[in-house]
Amino acid sequence: MQDIIDDLKRASPSTASQPPTLQQGLEELNYTSQSVQESAQRIGCIIHDLKHFSRYGLSNVKPVALNHIVETALRLTHNNVKRLQLQLSLHPQLPAIKGDELQLQLVLINLIQNACLAMDKPHPLLTIETGIEEGRVYLKVIDNGCGMQPHIQARIREPFFTTRREQGGTGLGLSTTNKILVEHGAQWLIHSQPNIGTEMKILLGMCNEA
Ligand SMILES: Nc1ncnc2c1ncn2[C@@H]1O[C@H](COP(=O)(O)OP(=O)(O)O)[C@@H](O)[C@H]1O
Ligand SMILES: [Mg+2]
Repeated sequence: MQDIIDDLKRASPSTASQPPTLQQGLEELNYTSQSVQESAQRIGCIIHDLKHFSRYGLSNVKPVALNHIVETALRLTHNNVKRLQLQLSLHPQLPAIKGDELQLQLVLINLIQNACLAMDKPHPLLTIETGIEEGRVYLKVIDNGCGMQPHIQARIREPFFTTRREQGGTGLGLSTTNKILVEHGAQWLIHSQPNIGTEMKILLGMCNEA
């Protein structure tokens, strides 16, 4: 594009004799071309970062106490959660799971933050539950927020998909969550109803599982 602009400049009369509109047009074209080049460079950097990020796998897999992860994630999201009613139901004898503690913390922080953002209404209620089901350990994060239409729910695992772009949403929270859960061999079930709320349920294998 820059080459074409340079050719146009060369082909047109000298600056002094150019009509103001042509000169202005060339300047604007020049500016647009620079912005396009800068954007392309930025996109290149983002793709590079994402490729690097997606290569990064689980680095520290060991027995993990899911209830401990819940407690830490709640401490880290305290500012978001303090304005809501929180209902905690943690299984007292939860078996350990095999996983990367920091990555699972990130999953839970993403789910909690999304739940908090979805509950922009009176009487927000966040429920976090752990338990055992059919030989697996589960974690549920339930909100009574805005919920999702099926066509939105179908896309939430996609990188950069967000319905909150204007509020600073990146659309990277749940794609990261999905990647981490796949690496853990976890099952992720989503149940959401518009204006009623959303339940995110994650099922993880126990530590002593083959
Ligand atoms: N608990 C929830 N309730 C309603 N919508 C949700 C919930 N969690 C996620 N979403 C939807 O999924 C989209 C993607 O979420 P995420 O990947 O975390 O990106 P972001 O939070 O930056 O928008 C959100 O923009 C929102 O539309
Ligand atoms: Mg998010």
